[in-house]
Amino acid sequence: HGTSKINGQGHLEIGGVDTTELAKQFGTPLYIVDEALVRQRAREYVESFRASGLKFQVAYASKAFSVMAMCSIAEQEGLSLDVVSDGELYTALKAGFPAARIHFHGNNKTPDEINMALDANIGCFVVDNFNELYLLNALAADKGKRVNILLRITPGVEAHTHDYISTGQTDSKFGFDLGNGTAYKAIQEAIAQPNLELLGVHSHIGSQIFEVEGFSMAAAKVAGFAMQVKNELDVTFRVINLGGGFGIRYVEGDTPLPIAQYVKAITDAIKTNFSAANYPLPEIWVEPGRSMVGDAGTTLYTVGTSKDIPGVRKYIAVDGGMTDNPRPALYESKYEAVLANRANEPLEETVTVAGKCCESGDKLIIDLELPKANNGDLLAVFCTGAYNYAMASNYNRIRRPAVVFVKDGAADVAVKRESLDDIIGNDVIPARLQTSA
Ligand code: LLP
Repeated sequence: HGTSKINGQGHLEIGGVDTTELAKQFGTPLYIVDEALVRQRAREYVESFRASGLKFQVAYASKAFSVMAMCSIAEQEGLSLDVVSDGELYTALKAGFPAARIHFHGNNKTPDEINMALDANIGCFVVDNFNELYLLNALAADKGKRVNILLRITPGVEAHTHDYISTGQTDSKFGFDLGNGTAYKAIQEAIAQPNLELLGVHSHIGSQIFEVEGFSMAAAKVAGFAMQVKNELDVTFRVINLGGGFGIRYVEGDTPLPIAQYVKAITDAIKTNFSAANYPLPEIWVEPGRSMVGDAGTTLYTVGTSKDIPGVRKYIAVDGGMTDNPRPALYESKYEAVLANRANEPLEETVTVAGKCCESGDKLIIDLELPKANNGDLLAVFCTGAYNYAMASNYNRIRRPAVVFVKDGAADVAVKRESLDDIIGNDVIPARLQTSA
């Protein structure tokens, strides 16, 4: 997929760059981002929305992979940006991302975070709860500002996805419930706050979703709510944000739809429901994260040791693991991989790929078919662009890998590999604990 292929030497090549050269130049583990594929995904979203004729914003959910270089690409592709913390906001601002296209999410934004976003004049706050509603109004008033908000509502739509990442259902820590009247009350409170400008509502039904039905259902529920609010409160929503959650193919058996199909389902549902009620067509915003960057990422590892347990399984260990990709340990996520330096050789054995953390659950792939892997071979794990670097840790004081962007034969560092000094960079030995030299 993307620009990945096997070159004449039987090596995996991405963005016109031989991955064995990348390993030599930058070391392993290494996150590789296929920049052309990221840009292609961004354009698929933008072009599909253009085709709908509706006004729109495609806000890249930076939680999937927030680094300054990615913010630059999002900016260049005309995307907006969804941030959920001061760290993501800072990353975007430092990358020169236009504040007016930044949307701030989160169920527990701190006063400091809100003030930082107010000072930056971001485009929109997605307000999650009553505490935040009043706090934001007060902090905006302190600064003499009036700010755009969406209210996050929980539409009661349950996406068919992993339990931990379903958020549209009623038992959720996020948002104002539609079903029990809380969302209605939130609208009444929002319009009563002098320093808040209510643009509309937001809903996010989950992640890694393969069907369009959930999105159409959410759109219909939101539309029904919009009608009620217009009739009873004389408030018209100018913006409907339907969140992210569009799936990608990690392994055979994953059956995501083309981006254009998700967008068409959403825009059709909005047009149908709103036109039927003679409601002015709102602007549609979405927040794709995974589907923007997931399949553009590949992690390159070096194979080290192996352990064969006859009749049970054979482990091969790589020089990374749950520190750079916690998803298999957290969600039992599945991945595909190849030997990058012998990508055209026949598959000879079934192995389990283990990481190097002191934890038995640190397995990246269970039962992977490979050529017979030796110490020094390179393993490339696909579809690691989303929620990998973003969720990486320093467990076991393992250093986070570098990130390189590849395109048209060029490879450029977007994030430097952490050094051992980075690992102790924030450590302080209190004076009373210092051993006399
Ligand atoms: N908007 C909101 C409000 C969200 O909560 C999320 C994801 C997105 C957009 C982007 O969703 P996406 O298009 O990436 O599915 N760590 C998990 C995924 C957590 C998703 C959290 N929210 C994983 O690794 O699968």
